[in-house]
Amino acid sequence: MTAILDGPTHLTTDQTFERVHAMARSSADHPALKHPFYELWMSRALDADAVELVAKNYFARVQRTPIRIALAFLHMADVSTRAETVDNLFDEMGHGSAAKVHSVILRGFLETLLSRLRGHGVSLDEVRAPILPSTTRLIEESERLFSSPHPQKVCGALMAQEWHAYPQLVYMYEGVRNYRHLFGLEEFHENCEYFYLHIGATEKEHKVHSLSTAAKSCSSEQDVAQLEEGFTGYLDLLAANWTEIHEAIAAL
Ligand SMILES: [Fe+2]
Ligand SMILES: [Fe+2]
Repeated sequence: MTAILDGPTHLTTDQTFERVHAMARSSADHPALKHPFYELWMSRALDADAVELVAKNYFARVQRTPIRIALAFLHMADVSTRAETVDNLFDEMGHGSAAKVHSVILRGFLETLLSRLRGHGVSLDEVRAPILPSTTRLIEESERLFSSPHPQKVCGALMAQEWHAYPQLVYMYEGVRNYRHLFGLEEFHENCEYFYLHIGATEKEHKVHSLSTAAKSCSSEQDVAQLEEGFTGYLDLLAANWTEIHEAIAAL
């Protein structure tokens, strides 16, 4: 309250970058990433019903990634942060090739995996696994965060998305390796394109861009506090979603 009455507490560019970088790194210890779901996912192959539940809910959220990035673009003011965000969106949309849109590649992988597990062709649109309430909440609430009238909050949510994505994809890929026996060896790696393109380069660049975008959006303690609200808000939604998925698997 005192800070509001006293006006913005100015931070230098170096101070801001340090603060924002530390915030970004802290995602590694957040329950969105330190989560028992990942331990289970990586520890062993799950049965088809459990994989279907994970696939359905994970895809529902990942499919909306370009929407979140586009909302971020609309709700940030600075021209250089907007340019970086367009670069991110261009990646997500397959550099203009529909077949290379990330969600298209992910759908292909998940449907192949489920088809192998079930022994017949599976379409994600037709599986019985439900979209869990926390998945719907994650999609709706995150789109609110990415549309915030406070550009710092938008940039915080974007930084959370991009900084949690790299370790998340490493964990998801390590878990996917539990199903390698369902594929030929080369075939397995061909099918893992979604993971390799993220782990290999894309997400590393998105981390760098989202960090500079976030740092450029802040020049005061108050800005950093807004950034943190968006950052933590998105990570909390992700953590709650993994918790519900984890509990739903245990209840199967
Ligand atoms: Fe992606
Ligand atoms: Fe990304």
